[in-house]
Amino acid sequence: MASDQSSTIKAIVKAFDSDRSRLMDIAQKVQDELGYLSEETMETIAEALGIPLVEVRDMASFYAFFNLEEKRENVVRLCNAVVEKMKDMDSVGRAFEKAAGCAFGETSPDGSIRLEYTPCIGMSDQAPSALINDIPVTSICPEDVPRIIKDLKAGKKYSRANVSSAGAEVDKNLIKAGSVIFSPMEKGSAIRKALNMSPEDVINVINQSRLRGRGGAGFPTGMKWNFCRKTKGDAHYVICNADEGEPGTFKDRVILTECPDLLFEGMTIAGYAIGAQEGFIYLRGEYLYLFETLQKELERRRHLGLLGKNIAGRSGFDFDIRIQVGAGAYVCGEESSLIESLEGKRGAPRDRPPYPVTDGYMHQPSSVNNVETFCAAARVMEKGAGWFSKIGTKDSTGTKLLSISGDCAHPGVYEIEYGECIADLLEMAGAKDVQAVQVGGPSGTCVAPKDFGRTICFEDLPTGGSFMIFGKDRDLLDIVHQFAEFFVEESCGWCVPCRVGTTLLKQKLEKIMAGNGSSLDLKELEDLGNTVKLMSRCGLGQTAANPILTTLQNFPKLYSRLVKGDDFVPPFDYEKALAPGIEMAGRQPVVEEEV
Ligand SMILES: Cc1cc2nc3c(=O)[nH]c(=O)nc-3n(C[C@H](O)[C@H](O)[C@H](O)COP(=O)(O)O)c2cc1C
Ligand code: SF4
Repeated sequence: MASDQSSTIKAIVKAFDSDRSRLMDIAQKVQDELGYLSEETMETIAEALGIPLVEVRDMASFYAFFNLEEKRENVVRLCNAVVEKMKDMDSVGRAFEKAAGCAFGETSPDGSIRLEYTPCIGMSDQAPSALINDIPVTSICPEDVPRIIKDLKAGKKYSRANVSSAGAEVDKNLIKAGSVIFSPMEKGSAIRKALNMSPEDVINVINQSRLRGRGGAGFPTGMKWNFCRKTKGDAHYVICNADEGEPGTFKDRVILTECPDLLFEGMTIAGYAIGAQEGFIYLRGEYLYLFETLQKELERRRHLGLLGKNIAGRSGFDFDIRIQVGAGAYVCGEESSLIESLEGKRGAPRDRPPYPVTDGYMHQPSSVNNVETFCAAARVMEKGAGWFSKIGTKDSTGTKLLSISGDCAHPGVYEIEYGECIADLLEMAGAKDVQAVQVGGPSGTCVAPKDFGRTICFEDLPTGGSFMIFGKDRDLLDIVHQFAEFFVEESCGWCVPCRVGTTLLKQKLEKIMAGNGSSLDLKELEDLGNTVKLMSRCGLGQTAANPILTTLQNFPKLYSRLVKGDDFVPPFDYEKALAPGIEMAGRQPVVEEEV
């Protein structure tokens, strides 16, 4: 390795205090400088940090946004999520291939443009969209593409070096603001109220509000904070989950754009309640364009005495927040994977228990909460538990942000009170002739029109925020297949039921879709789905079969019209079956002659 490159790497490692837990940031910075992470580069990083090379390789090979193969000048990552495909992503993809002169998964002949597909980037309300050198570009038409490629080749625009929200083309699309998250609040007013109480009383107020986590599972927030506070440790940590990787979800993006201050207020209150001095925001890599704006907002709060030492004049209450940027892995939204990633490792889920409240970041008690949960907690402190608990339903108090996308006139973010029914939401979003609604993303439930009276709440249809609408002309089984593919791609591969099971589910579905399935295959599909659900190690595998299982239940005709009777034997195409093996081996099979 050239000595100037080696010095660059060593300087970067030094800038991060040779801290092993900052390995993700170090690798990202090195990649920005040198274009990719070669074997030699990783060796130099490992040496400078004093860790084995395998730890650097292990981490870097896990994340989609680290590039280990070749220097890349410009990377176009076209989002191929379900809603993007519904909005004619394919035409945009073809236009990119034509303009760049290469297919997706390849680099242009002059080496200047790399084309890749990427799962949901949190822009389903303005599809088709892409990350171009990490900057989101939305509502792309095929006609825009030649200009984009020309600009890139001229080195004009979309450079990671000057990433900022100002450079990104993202609409906020806040369609309906409600009374909790998107109503104005005076900076610091909730913190001051909290500081007038003991940390235990703050937790009591959150408990009385009956606030439940907005990340999907709905765990009571006060109870989580209480477990964390009560666990002894060298330090306690507040962690904000801003990974927002569930396809079709983009509501945290709008909070981070419109009211990041409310989030910081909620995190600081959590810090006071659980006894933490440090908080982290795990920001998905796809939202890197928000990083600078969020940093400025944090700095502003430090100047106002709302972060840092002796917050709001309270002697001894010190708390600050650091933003950790992710690198493109859906599983890192799962809280234990997120913590591993925050420690600078690959994002493999941990065994649970122990839960993060007792054994979290650096094995210390940590509370992981969703962006929206922290915001709601701040409003509870400001306006009181009584005010909050009157909104919504008995077991689901407050409001919920929905990211509505797909076949409707007004895609965007809606703040609704818990308890609203699907039919009303569809009317609000201007959706007609709806075949199905996917509530809670691929891992949620596919709801049929007969159930549009069902309501959004923990008692009935819980959701982290994704609400995708499919019109009557959509091929629903094709959508289920895309979800199945998504889980195959995103499985971290650690446990067999998920690693193998997701692929078997996809293959079985393909067999049925091709007309080669019998009613026995349907039964096997369901059994396999239930096994993957039951036996997988983390929430990803435990929900990966949901697109299949919920459509089998709610749309049985989708499947039954395709399958034959029990005694059906599908045709077997010997050459087709052998083709992948031949390609892999690079030779024809040896056929032994009969003696
Ligand atoms: C595969 C997977 C992805 C997840 N993604 C997210 C996410 O993007 N944001 C989030 O808040 N929670 C996500 N969760 C849930 C988190 O593990 C965790 O329950 C949540 O952050 C807790 O916050 P809450 O109590 O405020 O809901 C995910 C879970 C799984 C299994
Ligand atoms: S369930 Fe899937 S994502 Fe979770 S640990 Fe197992 S392989 Fe990894």
